[in-house]
Amino acid sequence: PTRMPVVVGNWKMNFDHLEATYFIQKLAWTLRDVHFDNRRCEIALLPSFTSLRSVQVLVEADRLPLTYGAQSVSVTTQGAFTGDISADMLARLGCTYVLVGHSERRKYHPEDDANIVDQVRAVLAAGMHPILCVGESFEERRQGIALDFAVGQVSDVTRDLSDEQTSHMLIAYEPVWAIGTGMVATPQSAQDAARAIRDHVRSTFDETVASSVRVLYGGSVTSRDVAQLIEQPDIDGFLVGGASLDVDEFTSIARLT
Ligand code: G3H
Repeated sequence: PTRMPVVVGNWKMNFDHLEATYFIQKLAWTLRDVHFDNRRCEIALLPSFTSLRSVQVLVEADRLPLTYGAQSVSVTTQGAFTGDISADMLARLGCTYVLVGHSERRKYHPEDDANIVDQVRAVLAAGMHPILCVGESFEERRQGIALDFAVGQVSDVTRDLSDEQTSHMLIAYEPVWAIGTGMVATPQSAQDAARAIRDHVRSTFDETVASSVRVLYGGSVTSRDVAQLIEQPDIDGFLVGGASLDVDEFTSIARLT
């Protein structure tokens, strides 16, 4: 199957619900202005939990050509888990995606492999698509073990999943040294990692799963880099942090993808 390219804007901890509303309205006007073709590239946004309802109302009322999702999720379905948000709550807000295992979550919260696998299962059980983030630190790159490390992170999560479950996932290759630093992976090294990840999926599952899983690149993506990156055969889109906070820049990224 041909994979639909997707540009995912991860807002991280930016924009309250009013700023989110303003952003989406401006984005909708801009996309209309430039005659954006959403049959060629999907645009997804990952706002804060507090903005999700506002985003849902806007997207549904105006049938905007946008999908959206959350940046993390609880591993449990309900009960005495103060401060947590369940996958069902997100699904009922119309979320399509949930980001899982972002390096900032791995670093600032106790999200280990077991927890990440449980989040992926929770997201799938609620009928949404997990976007699993993997990627090496500068130290692993320096040691020459970058690809093994990233593939190992994929393997840790997918080893107990079925073909069907894995085929619903997206995988974002985000080298930690590239996140928020302005250092973008070269098209070749991003392609090498994306290919290694897809090869791993092919060898663990089969060709159908490998050719349906979308592999994204993330890490300091701006409109300058996307044309060369998207030419790479195994890169199916982008996970964009900082550059997703500016409507014009984000639109340019989507147009070039
Ligand atoms: O989820 C997004 C990534 O962490 C990339 O962030 O584009 O600001 O480097 P960045």
